[in-house]
This record gives sequence, C-alpha cells and structure tokens, in this order.
Amino acid sequence: MSAELSFDQWASELRTHFEEVASAALPQKQGRLETLYEAMRYAVLGGGKRVRALFVYAAGSLTGAPLSICDEAAIAVEFVHAYSLVHDDLPCMDNDVLRRGKPTCHVQFGYAEAMLSGDALQPEAFRRLTQLPIDPGQIVHLVAELALASGPQGMCGGQMIDLQSVGMKIDLATLRQMHRMKTGALIRACVRMGALCGNKDICSACLEDLTLYAERLGLAFQVVDDILDATADTSVLGKTAGKDEQANKPTYVTLLGLQKAKELAQGCAKDARECLERIEASGKVPAGATRPLAWMIDYVVDRDH
Ligand code: IPE
Ligand code: IPE
Ligand code: MG
Ligand code: MG
Ligand code: MG
Repeated sequence: MSAELSFDQWASELRTHFEEVASAALPQKQGRLETLYEAMRYAVLGGGKRVRALFVYAAGSLTGAPLSICDEAAIAVEFVHAYSLVHDDLPCMDNDVLRRGKPTCHVQFGYAEAMLSGDALQPEAFRRLTQLPIDPGQIVHLVAELALASGPQGMCGGQMIDLQSVGMKIDLATLRQMHRMKTGALIRACVRMGALCGNKDICSACLEDLTLYAERLGLAFQVVDDILDATADTSVLGKTAGKDEQANKPTYVTLLGLQKAKELAQGCAKDARECLERIEASGKVPAGATRPLAWMIDYVVDRDH
C-alpha cells in the first residue's frame, strides 16, 4: 500500500471494486426468476457505504490476505447485511419506504418478492463461501463466524429484542445487548473473517485485540446510527430520519441523551485505537499494517450518513 494513500482513495477504490465483484456474483435477469433476481440485485447493488466489506478488506490487509479471497468474504457479509436491511424495512418490522435514497425493496417489488430476495441472499452468501479455493478448515471457520453473527445468537436475536422493546423502558444493559447482537455481531464477524482470509497463524493475542477492536466499533456503529436517526436529514441519510422516535424505540439517544451518546461513541473509538496500538506493538504484524483499520475508526464515528 502506498504511503500517500488516503482513506478516501482507499475506500472509494474498494467500493468500486466491490460493486463489480458483487454484481458478477449475483444472478442475472432470467426468464421465470427475473423478478427474484432483480430484487436481489436491487437489494445489494447501487448504494450503501460498504462498511462491512471495508472491514473485511481492512482486516485482510493486516494478515496479508489475497484480494480475491477477501472479495468473497466481503460479498458474503454484504449479502447477509442486504438481506437484513430488506427484512428490517418490511411493514412487519420497521415499516420503512426509503433505503439508500431509493424505495425500499418491498415498495419496489412487493412484500413476498422482497422477503424471498432476502431469503435467497442469505444461503447464497454461505454457498459462495463453501466454494473458496482455500483450506476446507479455513472455510469452516469463515462459515461459522458468519452463521454465529447472523443467527439467533447475533443479528436475528438482536432484531427480536429490538422489536420487543418498542414502547418499553429498557435498561442500559439490555440496550447494549441489543446493539451488540443486531449490529455489533456482524461487524465483529467482518473483521475476524477478513483476518481469517489471510495468515491462519495470526497470534492469539492479536486476534483477541482485533476482536475487541471490532466489538467496540460494532457498538459505536449502532450508537452513531441512533444519533444520525435523531439528528441527520433524510436527504443525507438516504433513509427516513426520526424513525426511532416515531416508532417509540429505545436507543442510546433516548436513554443517555445526545451528548452522552456521542461521548460513548468516542470512548469506543479510543478503546479501538488502543487495541490497534497493542497489535502494532506486538511486532507480529508488518509495520503500518493496521492503518486501514485505524481509518475505519474515524469513519465509523465521524460519518454523516
Ligand atoms: C444500516 O447499516 C443498518 C444498521 C445496522 C445500522 P448501514 O448504515 O451500514 O447501511 P448501508 O449498507 O450503508 O446502507
Ligand atoms: C437495523 O437497525 C439492524 C439490522 C440488523 C438491519 P436499524 O433498524 O436501526 O437500521 P436502519 O436505521 O433501519 O438502517
Ligand atoms: Mg430495525
Ligand atoms: Mg430499521
Ligand atoms: Mg437505525
């Protein structure tokens, strides 16, 4: 990586690259299944910050992972993420009509079609991982990471707590658990999967610090999502602002207030930075190899959408 590369260049090149490989990985319009395929493509392509893909690439560069392997891990996590957004927007969940500046998938294609496109993206993510030209043991690790993060112990469990909490006064521990599961778990998986795409022998202390880094940033990511829901404009967000308050959802903003929520995100960022300092200091990774992961810290907490 060139010394002069900035975060913006790095992220923009990878986003363009990701869009190409993801497009190639998705089925093309075809006869009877055209609507399903179109809805899947609509859910994944043409928008999104690609935060999860960037986490895969950033962690992959720490362990010298080949780009083509990182691509597949990035496709898998973004497929799962896209499916989660399609279902999250359905009337039986958050009932949202705008996503990434466009009509939500069910508004564009219909409820059943949207549901099925999410249902189809999920197994496709796992199927593609099984095809990777790497050690089968490494594949099992990747699949297990993603399954743990997106199932009942992770995202789906967190979404359940989210829906059960509507209109309720929940305590900080429950809110934290909800955020850790619904959003943090997948970000944790992205970072660990990126690292696993490279050198299998990453030292256990480094993997622990990397995991802690991901957990702190995963929490910060959803805290910032809550803050932006309360403070940003719909036109910048690309999704309807103010939905959490409207739906009476407990968030870090409603529990702590805006200022304390911002401080919490900054505190998570500080913890994450310390994790990277320890990894650098271990001497077990090439000098400067944590730079993309460091960029991601600032991006997660300073983003405007
Ligand atoms: C939105 O995720 C859902 C959350 C888990 C907060 P992103 O903010 O990453 O959505 P996109 O992919 O950029 O649209
Ligand atoms: C969604 O959280 C988390 C998911 C697992 C999809 P939100 O409901 O806050 O996400 P947005 O604000 O709709 O993107
Ligand atoms: Mg939701
Ligand atoms: Mg939502
Ligand atoms: Mg939100």
